[in-house]
Amino acid sequence: MRAAIILAAGQGTRMRSAQPKVMHQLAGRPMVQHLLAACAPVFQRIVVVVGPGMEELAAAVVPHATVVQQERLGTGHAARIAAPLLEGFVGDVAVLYGDNPLITTATLERLVAARETTDLALLAMRPADPGRYGRVVQDEAGQVARIVEHADATEAERAIPLCNAGVVCAAAPNLFRWLSGLRNDNRQGEYYLTDVVAAARAEGLRTTAVEAPEAELRGINTRVELAAAEAETQSRLREAAMLGGATLTDPGSVTLAWDTRLAPDVVVEPHVVFAPGVTVEEGVRIRAFSHLEGCVVRANAIVGPYARLRPGADVGQGAHVGNFVELKAATLGAGAKANHLTYLGDVSVGAGANIGAGTITCNYDGVNKHRTEIGEGAFIGSDTALVAPVRVGARAITAAGSVITEDVPDDALAIARGRQANKPGRGVKPRRKS
Ligand code: UD1
Ligand code: MG
Repeated sequence: MRAAIILAAGQGTRMRSAQPKVMHQLAGRPMVQHLLAACAPVFQRIVVVVGPGMEELAAAVVPHATVVQQERLGTGHAARIAAPLLEGFVGDVAVLYGDNPLITTATLERLVAARETTDLALLAMRPADPGRYGRVVQDEAGQVARIVEHADATEAERAIPLCNAGVVCAAAPNLFRWLSGLRNDNRQGEYYLTDVVAAARAEGLRTTAVEAPEAELRGINTRVELAAAEAETQSRLREAAMLGGATLTDPGSVTLAWDTRLAPDVVVEPHVVFAPGVTVEEGVRIRAFSHLEGCVVRANAIVGPYARLRPGADVGQGAHVGNFVELKAATLGAGAKANHLTYLGDVSVGAGANIGAGTITCNYDGVNKHRTEIGEGAFIGSDTALVAPVRVGARAITAAGSVITEDVPDDALAIARGRQANKPGRGVKPRRKS
């Protein structure tokens, strides 16, 4: 059994935000959830330390236990207050920082494996710019003697390239004993988690640093760093999508969500955005500048360019959704087509139906939403307004420009528009001023 304590009580002042730092999103989900996902295969129990008033954060980490750190007295203090929730826990405990969400499961596996052969293992990196990170001070034998915080470090210590990533792992009784002995007589007046290293060494125990790439261990403190983390997250997701068999013709311009599912032989053209909850089946082509969220696109369908699929859109096998078409809670049957300038909301469209240019489902009366049903093989003429609730039968036709307010039976033709009147001689020329 292994447990993890995730520290996330800090508001993250440098983000200049009303929401807690770890609630800021990467690829469409809070960064803390990325960290939880990386931890899940390695740690059977997880406790998250949150700050006062962070109910939204506590809800975002369910079903994991949370404990509130009332006063922000330092990372060591935050880890310590999680101890009662792990009372009697036998096994290793790791402490992680919620603002370090790019860490991978593979790296966490290396950390816990290193712990098997030593008493305390920690993650370290050699960043291009070591900046304000804590420095890892090693002895001649290569063991970690201690970690010195930037604020407390001498010039010589600041010259050390090896930096503390902020993840430590030790057997529960050891870790909690070291934590309970921490002191705050340092430059920041905080209880430093990092001081557990010196505590371990003072007891003559063994310590080791496991190195991993900066790209994984970089913390997020500002919006600039958030953007860099988003870029890293996107490049991982794009690579996984391509290795999974999808073609991204211009990967750098495609935005994916953490849960985007692209089947083999999907082609995604440039400048497509996937918000969360999208599944795309085999052989689909998503043309340029489309935006998809909470929807399913079934095998061999074609979407876009410039299509918008909103939550509840379900595009059937081989169906076509063309330019400037918006779908919301709309099921399109197999082979149905809506190719131009159309809004389909709260609607089911039967297989093989054709939706003409400019068709609008008038689904909202200002108070309630109403459904439209379009039968199999129906033909909706261009510029039809379908005033819901309304049903157009199978193989029925609506004439172009119709405002359909009553149900249309199967196989019928509905015309609902003013008759044309031609006025002879009333053209442009006779009306000119003399
Ligand atoms: C910490 C490390 C530093 C390391 C760096 C890596 C300490 C003392 N220093 O510094 O060695 O190089 O991370 O990114 O640990 N938190 C709480 N309660 C607190 C204080 C912090 O929950 O009382 C949480 C924060 O929300 C954050 C995490 O702990 O998620 C790290 O705190 P932060 O203030 O960012 O520490 P750093 O100064 O970055
Ligand atoms: Mg930090």
